[in-house]
Amino acid sequence: MKRKMLYAGSFDPVTNGHVDLINRSARLCDRLIVAVAENLSKKARYSVEDRLRMLRSAVAHLDNVETDSFTGLLADYAKRRNVEAVVRGLRATMDFEYELQMAHMNARLYENDVETLFLMSSPSYSFVSSSLVSEVFMLGGDVEGLVPGPVLDYMKSIR
Ligand code: PNS
Repeated sequence: MKRKMLYAGSFDPVTNGHVDLINRSARLCDRLIVAVAENLSKKARYSVEDRLRMLRSAVAHLDNVETDSFTGLLADYAKRRNVEAVVRGLRATMDFEYELQMAHMNARLYENDVETLFLMSSPSYSFVSSSLVSEVFMLGGDVEGLVPGPVLDYMKSIR
């Protein structure tokens, strides 16, 4: 049986921390869906179209990865796409409580059809978050090396 997994997030914008997790997750399955969540409770800096465009450029080197976006519940999308597991990255203990809460809520919604899989972020990116990267970028700071080159180019082009 083909193993299909999902890595969902805001990707606002996609960072090298995300790309590290995508690379590693793609090795654990036959097909990885990386999906941008249109999260209504969270105000995004970039539109879904821009986030998807940046994401596509960041995963172009991986042939078992597809990109998508979704609205509504992650659990519904995961079930609809028939994935076996949803990957989440953990950077530090600060992520843990929120992630645990979401994993338990999702477990209830998945009805045993899907598993949440946690991967530890690489130490080199443990301080990197989309919100910090975009804040530093908006204020004119250097974020080279924290987001993929084509993503940085795109961010500059629409600034
Ligand atoms: O990259 P993020 O912002 O940490 O990702 C969070 C995300 C998008 C995975 C989470 O907010 C989410 O699942 N949103 C979809 C709506 C939903 O299912 N909410 C209930 C979560 S238990």
